[in-house]
Amino acid sequence: MTEKSVYVTQPSLAPLDEYVEILQGVWESGILTHNGPLVQQLEKEICSMLQIKNFVAISNGTIAIQMAIKALELKGEIITTPFTWIATVSAIKWEGSKPVFCDIDPETLNIDPEKIENLITDRTVGIMPVHVFGNPCDVAAIDRIAEKHNLKVIYDAAHAIGSSFNGNSLLVAGDISATSLHATKLFNTAEGGGCITQDPVLHEKLKRIRFFGHDNVKNVIEDGFNGKMTEVHAALGLANLKYYDAVLADRKNKYKYYKDGLKDTEFVRMQITKCGEANYSYFPVIFDSEDQLVNTVNKLVAEDIYPRRYFYPSVNTYTEVVDYQSVPISEDISKRILCLPLYLNLELEKIERIIQIVKG
Ligand SMILES: Cc1ncc(COP(=O)(O)O)c(C=O)c1O
Repeated sequence: MTEKSVYVTQPSLAPLDEYVEILQGVWESGILTHNGPLVQQLEKEICSMLQIKNFVAISNGTIAIQMAIKALELKGEIITTPFTWIATVSAIKWEGSKPVFCDIDPETLNIDPEKIENLITDRTVGIMPVHVFGNPCDVAAIDRIAEKHNLKVIYDAAHAIGSSFNGNSLLVAGDISATSLHATKLFNTAEGGGCITQDPVLHEKLKRIRFFGHDNVKNVIEDGFNGKMTEVHAALGLANLKYYDAVLADRKNKYKYYKDGLKDTEFVRMQITKCGEANYSYFPVIFDSEDQLVNTVNKLVAEDIYPRRYFYPSVNTYTEVVDYQSVPISEDISKRILCLPLYLNLELEKIERIIQIVKG
């Protein structure tokens, strides 16, 4: 691998001197963590950027999901998608609940709302859909099911900053949405995450859980743990935030370039958006067969280009950590899906070359 290697993604980073300038203040104040001024500023700026009321900044997206489960006091069966990253399921398990896998819509790649009700039992306490690759779930249908059966909804919105629904940020969906600010995400703090809720009582509770269950005067009033974001990570977020609009516009542009280039290729198809607007943060293609996928990967790697099989394998097949439940569509698509390189500094000529290789 060389400097010229093309990876599936690269972090979007502000110029180093802009980050260092913010860090200067951290060194001067000596405040490194504990809900410091930069974390508070980052939360405010994210709220105004996304036009949302509340954002609790957290150490990473996995802990954000765990905090959401903890805040809603869920313990039992949580219906989720197998077409996700293992973190969705490990968070459910760490909070003492059982993941129940619901198959996906083969076009959107999100949980299929029509299949959720069949999985509801008297042990079901919640639904945890994932907005896969930033593609909005059918939020209205999921809300209807949750209301009918008195269930809580937590969205794993790890990929969803920048996606929208009915003209609003997608992050306001559900009782709580949990997002990731990991290095690979559209907007990043290296490691980081956040919980978003419209409910002011839950919002305060999430802040307490993040800080060992302390209230404002440091009494421990409930079970919490350490979910704090540091000032060093918040500083990176504040530096990167200035470039968020440019990153989003660039992704949309490059996504369209890929889509136009591959639209007449018979043996590949793309993810379909049926609700709201996606953030174009990934460019997945689904091949007709796994052999075609493997062939294409080999050709790309030969030219120093490294796409990623993502999500692969389907999480229900990790039998070391979950009981196998059959979810045929997810298992099938996982074997045939490939994310092509997409990031800020990727040149259009490279994308053109990738398109030609995929087309064969
Ligand atoms: C769908 C999904 N959920 C959860 C996570 C966990 O986020 P983090 O890496 O910030 O813990 C990821 C991570 O990439 C993810 O892709």
